[in-house]
Amino acid sequence: MPYSEESLVPFDVKSVWAAMEECHKLGLTKSIGVSNFSCKKLENLLSFATIPPSVNQVEMNIAWQQKNLRAYCKAKGIIVTAYSPLGAKGSKWDINQILDNELTKQIAQAHGKTAAQVCLRWLFEQGVTFIPKSYNKERLKENLEIFDWSLTKDDHEKINQVKQERMFKYGTAAFPLPDLFDGET
Ligand SMILES: NC(=O)c1ccc[n+]([C@@H]2O[C@H](COP(=O)([O-])OP(=O)(O)OC[C@H]3O[C@@H](n4cnc5c(N)ncnc54)[C@H](OP(=O)(O)O)[C@@H]3O)[C@@H](O)[C@H]2O)c1
Repeated sequence: MPYSEESLVPFDVKSVWAAMEECHKLGLTKSIGVSNFSCKKLENLLSFATIPPSVNQVEMNIAWQQKNLRAYCKAKGIIVTAYSPLGAKGSKWDINQILDNELTKQIAQAHGKTAAQVCLRWLFEQGVTFIPKSYNKERLKENLEIFDWSLTKDDHEKINQVKQERMFKYGTAAFPLPDLFDGET
């Protein structure tokens, strides 16, 4: 980055997907999927795919809840995987600071859990898969300890009110690409 305009070429998704289907047919992969696909891109893919994508990996966390895309994926049987589930803590993209947010801290305190566990438990209760990243052994362990407790209805209602803002804004100075998400929210 920054990219020169000539280095950007249209994405030939039909050919790429045909090659991925071939990998699947050859037994080289169990499943094939996509990332950062909008509903519009999925609709296009599904119009010619003979093997539908098993998964769509997208930004998702309490500050970017992906309600529309999730509903679409659910209707089409596509699993959603949430990347940056902790809001990409500590990176330059961490604009929403969800682990330092008063609400996540309050909910965590009420359950005797950490803010990260609240964020991950919320994702679990949404029925999506998620990929928190940590290089720290204690935090890796902490991130797995989310299966023997649950959030309350009141917690969900409050989390539903969290201001929504996408971190990865393609089509901006930071990501000078065409809008990957086709204007969808
Ligand atoms: N498909 C895509 O376009 C795309 C885009 C972005 C990211 N991703 C993928 O998504 C995965 C994770 O996303 P991400 O790295 O952006 O963000 P993330 O998982 O939301 O945040 C990672 C950060 O959170 C910290 N962390 C982890 N567990 C924690 C805990 N329990 N308490 C406090 N801090 C904790 C980590 O630090 P420590 O290591 O110090 O614990 C790390 O700095 C990665 O595998 C990445 O490759 C995919």
